[in-house]
Amino acid sequence: MVFAKMLSVRNALALVALSSGFAVVSTLPASAVDVAYPASQARQGTPLYRDNCSSCHGDRLQGALDAPPLKGDSFMASWAGQPATALLEYISTNMPQDRPGALEPKQYAQLLALILKENGVAAGADDTPPIAADTLGDATIPAAK
Ligand code: HEC
Repeated sequence: MVFAKMLSVRNALALVALSSGFAVVSTLPASAVDVAYPASQARQGTPLYRDNCSSCHGDRLQGALDAPPLKGDSFMASWAGQPATALLEYISTNMPQDRPGALEPKQYAQLLALILKENGVAAGADDTPPIAADTLGDATIPAAK
């Protein structure tokens, strides 16, 4: 499928970059802003994840059977540096795989905050505005720390 193909192209490029011995330098424009979320939003994602996602992706986002992990090196190799809207749109239109689009936009945003947290993207200050599709702009997913 197209998405899987995109992933493998990206992985192949990363391998070429690594094996040719060049440092991988970010080519993002200087204006790119890291996506930010308040801790409360990630907490709201926890029960949603348990009820709608964990049956396939595992209790701790580790992946299981056919469903890939939603945290860790392979996940971040695909998503770090990408616009956060791309991941939000992906989960909003494709997940849960057995009921695509079944959740509210607000709930998908809470799940995105949880996924970011689980990947080591620290929460912002408590007064950070929650992630929402119409205010994300071109904020990107930063590399895990
Ligand atoms: C019925 C099983 C199932 C459920 C439930 C499910 N997923 Fe998935 N998910 C998958 C499968 C299978 C893939 C791989 C899809 C592909 O390659 O097209 C996937 C892929 C993903 C990806 C892309 C991973 C990557 O490496 O880029 C994300 C993100 C994701 N799911 C998030 C979620 C979220 C959030 C939920 C809960 C709202 C959820 N999924 C529920 C089966 C499931």
